[in-house]
Amino acid sequence: MKRIAVLTSGGDAPGMNAAIRAVVRRGVSLGLEVLGIRHGYTGLIAGEFRALGPRDVGGIIERGGTILGTSRCAAFLTSRGQETAVQQLRDREIGGLVVIGGDGSQAGAQALAQRGVQVVGVASTIDNDLPGSDVTIGVTTALDIALEAIDRLRVTASSHGRTFLVEVMGRTCGYLALIAGIAGGAEAIMLPEAPQSAEEIAAAIRDAYGRGKSHAIVVVAEGAAPNAAQLAEYFAHHAARLGFELRVTKLGHIQRGGAPGVFDRMSATLLGATAVEQLHCGAHGNLLGIVNGRVTPTPLAALAQARKPLDAELLRLARVLAE
Ligand code: ADP
Ligand code: F6P
Repeated sequence: MKRIAVLTSGGDAPGMNAAIRAVVRRGVSLGLEVLGIRHGYTGLIAGEFRALGPRDVGGIIERGGTILGTSRCAAFLTSRGQETAVQQLRDREIGGLVVIGGDGSQAGAQALAQRGVQVVGVASTIDNDLPGSDVTIGVTTALDIALEAIDRLRVTASSHGRTFLVEVMGRTCGYLALIAGIAGGAEAIMLPEAPQSAEEIAAAIRDAYGRGKSHAIVVVAEGAAPNAAQLAEYFAHHAARLGFELRVTKLGHIQRGGAPGVFDRMSATLLGATAVEQLHCGAHGNLLGIVNGRVTPTPLAALAQARKPLDAELLRLARVLAE
């Protein structure tokens, strides 16, 4: 193998740049040419490749986002799109591809693997919903950002005697909300995996008020049902019973845009470098993630059936500690 390529796909995550840097520099150290593909699968289909050398990836380890750009690409879901993508790789005699992204992107990597592409995935998403990875690239930085916001909201909530509903990202996965809720000292946490009714949350807020708390923080995963907007509507009709006034803050994309912390830089570096080593020695078809502190491969083919469970012990603890 002489030439490999790398792309970032799906939602950007802090640490993607560190992974790109590791892919390029480890690749060059092994005598490989490395091409970067712009804007994920969109650029792969369109043939947007450029050669990357060690100097092209200087000064990016500390930057959030992705210098390659990313996308959500509907065309890649079609056979035609995937055939074109494979042809683009063949035309350039690219022997291996590194796909840095979340679960959708890795489903795309598996689609390419089934079409004969030698591909290795690098688990990178703030959602932390990928099986075969304890903590994916971007999660810890996104959590630090969410915690800073929650700490600030608690200050003003306490001054005014208010409840804040704080909506965090995570798509259908409640991991970000669970950890941000525990580490942020929330009075209640709403998760897609452990549904509670609006009335149950209202009761938790009312209880917190009754126990003499000066505020209530409710961390709500964006995928929870009811979600933050529905909870707010319900509470508006029961305002007198809650004790606290209500405000809603949606953290949204702020969680994605931070500079990566040390964990995300290190995991991205290890995963990116290992992905290239795997391709170089002929191992492919795996997603690389960190399990028990070690880079661990999981077959891309196994991801479609697998689902990462919520840590039920942590959820129990969260409820106890909200007292
Ligand atoms: P993430 O990788 O962050 O989860 P998405 O779910 O949006 O982000 O996926 C990114 C892209 O991966 C999609 O826009 C699409 O191009 C591709 N993709 C997603 N699911 C599949 C699939 N089942 N088969 C092939 N490609 C997919
Ligand atoms: O997958 C990462 C993520 O930030 C999810 O948490 C969120 O649901 C989604 O991407 C938002 O996507 P977009 O950036 O396309 O609005």
